[in-house]
Amino acid sequence: MKSSVKVVPLDRVTSPLLAVAIGELGSRKIPSSLLGLDAATDGELSRLITSGDFNGKRDEMAVVYPKKRPKRVLLVGLGTPGEITRGAIRRGAAVAARKALELDAEIMAFHLPHETHGGVPPQHVGQVIVEGVAQGAWQFSDLKATEKKKRLTELDIIATREERADIERGRRVGAAMATGHALARNLQALPGNICTPAYLADIARRLGRAYQYKVTVLSRAQMEKLEMGGLLAVAQGTRQEPRFIVIEYKGAGRSPPLCFVGKGITFDSGGISIKPAEKMEEMKYDMSGAAAVLGLFETLAHLKPKANVVGLIPTTENLPSGTAVKPGDVVRSQLGKTVEIVNTDAEGRLVLSDALGYARRFKPACVIDIATLTGAVVIGLGHHATALMSNDDQLMEEVRHAGDMAGERCWPLPLWDEYREQLKSDIADVKNVGGRPAGTITAGWFLREFVAGFPWVHLDIAGTAYTDSDQPDMAKGPTGVGVRLFAEFVRGRTRG
Ligand code: BES
Ligand code: MN
Ligand code: ZN
Repeated sequence: MKSSVKVVPLDRVTSPLLAVAIGELGSRKIPSSLLGLDAATDGELSRLITSGDFNGKRDEMAVVYPKKRPKRVLLVGLGTPGEITRGAIRRGAAVAARKALELDAEIMAFHLPHETHGGVPPQHVGQVIVEGVAQGAWQFSDLKATEKKKRLTELDIIATREERADIERGRRVGAAMATGHALARNLQALPGNICTPAYLADIARRLGRAYQYKVTVLSRAQMEKLEMGGLLAVAQGTRQEPRFIVIEYKGAGRSPPLCFVGKGITFDSGGISIKPAEKMEEMKYDMSGAAAVLGLFETLAHLKPKANVVGLIPTTENLPSGTAVKPGDVVRSQLGKTVEIVNTDAEGRLVLSDALGYARRFKPACVIDIATLTGAVVIGLGHHATALMSNDDQLMEEVRHAGDMAGERCWPLPLWDEYREQLKSDIADVKNVGGRPAGTITAGWFLREFVAGFPWVHLDIAGTAYTDSDQPDMAKGPTGVGVRLFAEFVRGRTRG
């Protein structure tokens, strides 16, 4: 999406749709900065507000048609003044963009009157407006041969002269976030027959060519040399060749890199421990962690932070076949630990164990993995938070803060020693499932078994990677969770 910041009176805006976001108006008085626009609507705006027909409640909308310009004014509610945060403004922008799609508007102007900023600094305002509009405008129709929908392709943020420079600075950050976020969602949306491990590797290579990243793609033979027994065990049941993708951004000389690991199961049938047919098609989303990492690298190209960043993506399908790994099989992970595979559907942790082992060679400042790892996290937190587990309290807080900044909330779960007991195997060092109780935590503990010598955070996004119903601020389907969180984390690190 193209975006720009413009300083023009609201009644001179020429785009087909001008969205104006306002907080709850207890006074039923129109903000004074909207008086010019009110005149252009012959007082219709103020009648809407004084009548109480529009109150500025969260997600509330009203459309007004001025005589001349702009063609339409869309009022969008942000909630009570106390609720006006970065998240509320991002949401308001997204809700407006979804309405713009409905109205077939290809260009949208967006304005937040200074009376209703809620104390959010202008730079943040610029950032979250772009993030929100791009999020709301996202749609995926690449695979529809017949249905042609209009796209919202252009955003003009209407600013005051004083705020212009700050909003412009924020706009650039928001635009960087938005491209990475959209890439992740596009990848997630693709079905397993298109988005294969080789396809993900091609995307990584394409990013590498476009932005001069070092990209290394390991083949099955190279994985065998490195003894990646976890990834190879999952991959032995499918005709699709697995890949291990390494992507490196250099922005800070020789300093230790921040390392991001994304689960890249391009389809998870469960393997021999096969899943029920109902909703199995959703398991195309089992590469959402990989999508988040690739999206991050798209964003990094535009943010150009002074940091070194490494992305690791172990990717394969998980299918049953005559060659597939069986319950009871024992394999050796990269670090030498042996694993009894009790359930072949707990495959994410197997492929991640090799990636965590591999991460060591970078002597990383920290490692953050992101994975649609357990159905149990949906029972625990529903679809409103990503579960967060860690071996380092400070890093955990830092990631949580980045999530808050990004509008991607994370909530901690404990990795107490008692839970580790559940992974004891009679025959190997560990088994890959810990029974029903605390399934998200035992999965986290399994990963921790392969974390050696670096601060680490695990994010379980099984509940947040996609939605099965339309939300006011997001279409149903892939959410692109993780991209903005990771980018905020990197930004936080580089601000010192
Ligand atoms: N990819 C699934 C987890 C998942 C479930 C993601 C629902 C998104 C929505 C993962 O590989 C899996 O199958 N986990 C098992 C683990 C169990 C066998 C210990 C699960 O959660 O059932
Ligand atoms: Mn599985
Ligand atoms: Zn899975």
